[in-house]
Amino acid sequence: MKNIAFYGAGNISISIIKGLMQSGFNCKNIFYVDRNIKNQANLKKLKTRNLKSNLNKEIDLFILAVKPKDAIEAYKEILKNYKKPKIVSLVAGIKSKKYIKINNSVEFLRAMPNTSSASCNGITAIYNSSFKKNNLKKVISLFSKIGLVLNFDNELKIDSFTGMIGSGPAYFFYLLKSYEKKLNHICNGDKKLIKKIIVNLLQGVAISVETNIGLNDLIKQVASKKGTTEAGLNTFKKNKLNKLFEEGIESAIKRSKEISSEH
Ligand SMILES: NC(=O)c1ccc[n+]([C@@H]2O[C@H](COP(=O)([O-])OP(=O)(O)OC[C@H]3O[C@@H](n4cnc5c(N)ncnc54)[C@H](OP(=O)(O)O)[C@@H]3O)[C@@H](O)[C@H]2O)c1
Repeated sequence: MKNIAFYGAGNISISIIKGLMQSGFNCKNIFYVDRNIKNQANLKKLKTRNLKSNLNKEIDLFILAVKPKDAIEAYKEILKNYKKPKIVSLVAGIKSKKYIKINNSVEFLRAMPNTSSASCNGITAIYNSSFKKNNLKKVISLFSKIGLVLNFDNELKIDSFTGMIGSGPAYFFYLLKSYEKKLNHICNGDKKLIKKIIVNLLQGVAISVETNIGLNDLIKQVASKKGTTEAGLNTFKKNKLNKLFEEGIESAIKRSKEISSEH
């Protein structure tokens, strides 16, 4: 895939573009179409190219990344200007058959990445509808540059994945807000130091998770009888924090399914 074009280039596209560039993908081969002036300025800074000023360029792959409400219109715009395009839709909720019904000469698949793609630590779920085998391989290889790729054989799994992994980074950012708040007091509002502490904490956690030690044993390594960690954990348990967290994830999965049936 030499030239790729992001149709809608906001949060998730910019994360993927950053990851691809970090992995060595040439910014000259990355194009975008975006009507939002703020996003256009960010894309210019990244040295990607506006497709509307390069209409004669052959595009090997389109990445459809607009909000669900704009998806069908944007899809039709691609079809109007390009013959037999290959399109990867990142749009949550809208099923493949809806796009293919409009035009069945496209090669089409759905992918659900997350914003950790920006640091090549992404996780992308893929469900293929009509990509030819060798082109599917190329798409998988492209997304593998920015993290882990899961190739699902059932489109419904994309909804669960969206609620859990697509939304996942935001859940952890949300929890970290409590850390930031408490650290702000201890560190006299030194934002740089607070950031460093949180990064070190998370990197340490990630490295521990990578070992063969299970999560319960990792907890035991930190929590001693009647110690501080145990006191913290007991409050979490008393207030059923894990149940709340699971309910949050379930709500996201439910919402993803609702969006699916709304379109
Ligand atoms: N954000 C995530 O973490 C994430 C993760 C996985 C999947 N997704 C999916 O990816 C899609 C995009 O999400 P996002 O958060 O990146 O949205 P976003 O930041 O709003 O980016 C979408 C961009 O597309 C522009 N746009 C919409 N229709 C257009 C058109 N016809 N022509 C040109 N530009 C157009 C929008 O302009 P305006 O601002 O003017 O509307 C906006 O700049 C969503 O469907 C979402 O479900 C997002």
